[in-house]
Amino acid sequence: MQNKKSRVFSGIQPTGNIHLGNYLGAIKNWVDRQDHYENIFCVVNSHAITIPQDPKILKEKTFELSAMLLACGIDPKKSTLFIQSQVQEHTSLAWLLTCITPMGDLNRMTQFKDKSQKNPKSILSGLFNYPNLMSADILLYQSDFVPVGEDQKQHIELARDTALRFNRDFGETFVIPKPLIMQEGARIMGLDDPSKKMSKSSGDKPNHLIALIDTPEEILKKFKKATTDSQNLITFDKERLGVYNLLTIYQCFTQKSQKTIEEEFKGEGYGKLKSKIAEVVIESLRPIRESYNYLITQKDYLEKILAEGAKSAREIAQKTYQDAKEKMGLI
Ligand code: AMP
Ligand code: TRP
Repeated sequence: MQNKKSRVFSGIQPTGNIHLGNYLGAIKNWVDRQDHYENIFCVVNSHAITIPQDPKILKEKTFELSAMLLACGIDPKKSTLFIQSQVQEHTSLAWLLTCITPMGDLNRMTQFKDKSQKNPKSILSGLFNYPNLMSADILLYQSDFVPVGEDQKQHIELARDTALRFNRDFGETFVIPKPLIMQEGARIMGLDDPSKKMSKSSGDKPNHLIALIDTPEEILKKFKKATTDSQNLITFDKERLGVYNLLTIYQCFTQKSQKTIEEEFKGEGYGKLKSKIAEVVIESLRPIRESYNYLITQKDYLEKILAEGAKSAREIAQKTYQDAKEKMGLI
């Protein structure tokens, strides 16, 4: 008999445009390893409102992201896909965890520091508490692994600490989760400024990110404009951020070794490198964009998948939450 599969849980926020960093750092890994694990994926709309959102746009983005995850290859027969706000145990457990998490631990979170600096006049307490909601997401499902990009490592470490603390103080309740971070693609940088992480919130800068729904023309144009350096040397050199980032993107899509790639581009210039990468990215994203354009018109199908997803998520979440609540003495 085969051993029971380990469970993975991961989430993504329905804000901005999903980009190549989200795809290579997270989604592609979820899709590629769907047979290997028992999978639960969540569109974390309750996380999104830690930064003010237009309600109408948030709703649209929630469906768009769900359609995009299916278009990327999340298979509802193999994975549970659902919307966070449709399973109320997420916010309920987050409260219990908020009550056992010191402010000092939350104060250390670099994402909180970064995001609060962007709008220092109005720092919402939800943004500060965000990691507790993320811990609740993960712990509710007794997740073994959490596949994410590099930027989420600190939050998962906090979720581990929280689980350990709860188990110690109230008795064995939660599985202790581990981050699952790929070696390549875990931190894709902006094409315009390769010293900054590619991020949805910089999406208003025209050449910063490649969105998964960008047209072939847009993709080619953005790669052509990507920042490099003046050395005209195509090697995996971590010091030369722009070229390293481009080569990493190429490597993630082609699955070739660094050595093979360096051989391939020996003696070539950056112009050739850029057009070759653009070609590979365009061809890889083409079926995703086409599938997305179809799925986004299939509202009934989408709603059905998400309702089924929420139902199976709820079954697990309710059990864990009841247990945690009782252990803390709540009637
Ligand atoms: P978010 O866009 O913050 O909801 O992130 C969703 C997932 O994408 C998380 O697992 C992130 O770690 C991952 N991610 C976001 N930006 C990048 C990036 N530039 N490179 C690699 N992974 C990323
Ligand atoms: N905080 C994550 C991000 O911004 C999204 C997220 C929310 C998440 N809950 C999660 C990721 C649980 C993994 C597991 O990218």
